[in-house]
Amino acid sequence: MGRTIMDKLAILLALIAANFSSVNADLTTIIDAKSNRGTWEGWGTSLAWWAVAFGNRQSLPGLGFNIARYNADVSSWNSYNGSKMVVSPNMIPSRQVEGFWQDWGSADPSSSSWKWSADANQRSMLSKAQDRGADILELFSVSPMWWMCKNHNPSGSDDGSSDNLQSWKYQQHALYLATVAKYAADNWNIRFQSVEPFNQPSANWWNGGMGTQEGCHFEASTQETVLGYLGTELRSRGLSSVISASDESYYDEALTTFNRISSSTMAESLPSSPCHRYQWVGGRDSLYSTVSRAGKKLWQSELVSNLLLDMRWLRPTAWVYWQALDRAGGWGLIDADNDKKTIGSVNQKYFVLAQFARHIRPGMRILDGGSDYTVAAYDATTRKLVVIAVNWGDAQYINFDLSKFSTPGVNDTVIKRWTTQIESGSRYVERSDTPLDGTKFWSRFEKNMVQTFEITVSSDLIPI
Ligand SMILES: *[C@@H]1O[C@H](CO)[C@@H](O)[C@H](O)[C@H]1NC(C)=O
Ligand SMILES: *[C@@H]1O[C@H](CO)[C@@H](O)[C@H](O)[C@H]1NC(C)=O
Repeated sequence: MGRTIMDKLAILLALIAANFSSVNADLTTIIDAKSNRGTWEGWGTSLAWWAVAFGNRQSLPGLGFNIARYNADVSSWNSYNGSKMVVSPNMIPSRQVEGFWQDWGSADPSSSSWKWSADANQRSMLSKAQDRGADILELFSVSPMWWMCKNHNPSGSDDGSSDNLQSWKYQQHALYLATVAKYAADNWNIRFQSVEPFNQPSANWWNGGMGTQEGCHFEASTQETVLGYLGTELRSRGLSSVISASDESYYDEALTTFNRISSSTMAESLPSSPCHRYQWVGGRDSLYSTVSRAGKKLWQSELVSNLLLDMRWLRPTAWVYWQALDRAGGWGLIDADNDKKTIGSVNQKYFVLAQFARHIRPGMRILDGGSDYTVAAYDATTRKLVVIAVNWGDAQYINFDLSKFSTPGVNDTVIKRWTTQIESGSRYVERSDTPLDGTKFWSRFEKNMVQTFEITVSSDLIPI
């Protein structure tokens, strides 16, 4: 990490505050050939609700996603020793995901306390994702199993803002996730690269009485204890999965939690750069929370501006979307009703994301695009340069200066481009009509338009 998280946060907040003051003059941005903002790992989506609803179908979004997050869940409808799960009256049924460890009778995964046939649809979608090339798989949790919760309600504690995991079950939550990861490796041919034990743990809205979905608050000190157990449980099963934490709702919360967890727990439990982890996961949930808690819809423009901000300031090396299929006006890249199990039309967001995900591919080096409206990536093997830019202002030309690739630097006479109108209109329209003039090219952008360009740079000018 070049900048500290605090630096990035400050810049990010300043940018959000400025709200992208609109630009009217023609613009020029200089792509920095020598920059290196990390090697791209991929794009993906969390499975959970939509995969539970549609996991038995064959279709998958054709965006070249290679990351899938599987939700190890926490509901079950059995009674045990006189206890049953307590369900919030507002619960949306399609947001209950059946968990595997259904009672506390035994921790032995071969005992009848475990139901491995649960959650068949989401597991099916996970396997299909892997079969189609998803190579980064994460196991994540949004709450402990219901019976580990103080009030037996996996939507949260009675007040929403206090811990709901019983203190004598800290190890069981870790044991549950490690057991699922081990069972998946042994029986499903699924190797989780990472395990994430908490979802938005500092939030104060995980309220058992009012919740519409599963969730759980964890104090930082509880997180630390559970993280320690999780490291031990994973290692004792011979698993090399790393731990992702903490997937907070807001960047500043993530920072606060990060600072509260001791460096020894960090070193022991989170070997792979935890800040990097929660940037790529936490960053997306920030968008989710900010938007959905404010009762707003997730508009395409918010998707794009968050993507650009992330790429430029948070420097993630992967980007994971919450729900690829969801209701109209919600998350859906494709509109779907998880409760009625119907799939509707493809949303404009899908094509906006295609402008990024189909072009910035795993293994590419992320470059400094030179402005807040541009991201760039370079593939050393094929010498392909990808430039993606967005115009928020009135229609204008944007000039792309490639002179830092040295002169002449680029050989193609015609550059391919793809165009999507962010709110509505053209959807991923491909054209080959943009000439290179010396070390520059330019293109006209309508207002609220995103364009992607692909240029092959000549062999002797690989950026270093
Ligand atoms: C079942 O409930 C009884 C009465 O509350 C209790 O004494 C016993 O320990 C419980 N057994 C298990 C396995 O939880
Ligand atoms: C780039 O163009 C120059 C000048 O036309 C030419 O000599 C060179 O071979 C080209 N390089 C590639 C990789 O096409």
